[in-house]
Amino acid sequence: MLSAAMTDLLNDQLNREFFSSNLYLQMSSWAEAEGLDGCATFLRNHADEEMGHMKRFYNYINEKGAMAIIGAIDAPQTKFKDIKDVFEQIYEHEQHITQKIHEIVKAAFSEGDMTTFNFLQYFVAEQHEEETLVRSILDRVKIIGLDGKGVFFIDQELARYGSGEVTVAESMAPGAE
Ligand code: FEO
Repeated sequence: MLSAAMTDLLNDQLNREFFSSNLYLQMSSWAEAEGLDGCATFLRNHADEEMGHMKRFYNYINEKGAMAIIGAIDAPQTKFKDIKDVFEQIYEHEQHITQKIHEIVKAAFSEGDMTTFNFLQYFVAEQHEEETLVRSILDRVKIIGLDGKGVFFIDQELARYGSGEVTVAESMAPGAE
């Protein structure tokens, strides 16, 4: 059984995951409007992942006999400067999400709610993975730059990550194309 305080914390996170999905979907539409199809695909897939996270919280809360509360989700911003701006904002957002996940982990531990503590470990690992991925993309953007063919090249790379053809880590490995 979940405590009332833990139910609230999990519901808050459920809604943050919903917002993350909407934010990335909005960014995807911005990218598509800019003709950045690879970036759009990558972000749309990422939005789907976030919706998967939302459902994990939704299912867990229900499995524990509590009720998931879908609250009002803030509208994401619609204007972005360029790809670098988009990924900087994603990185900042994911760091915020990591901090929130860690706060819930600490609360679960101090309550002695080991089932929830265990449930949250997936998200601890997932946040580490996401932060690493976004930082790698940002590093690439900084190295390649957004001048001339830079944007085109980055968009092509993102298309490859988005399709699952290659991971960022693989593409950055020595000897990779
Ligand atoms: Fe659901 Fe991007 O963390």
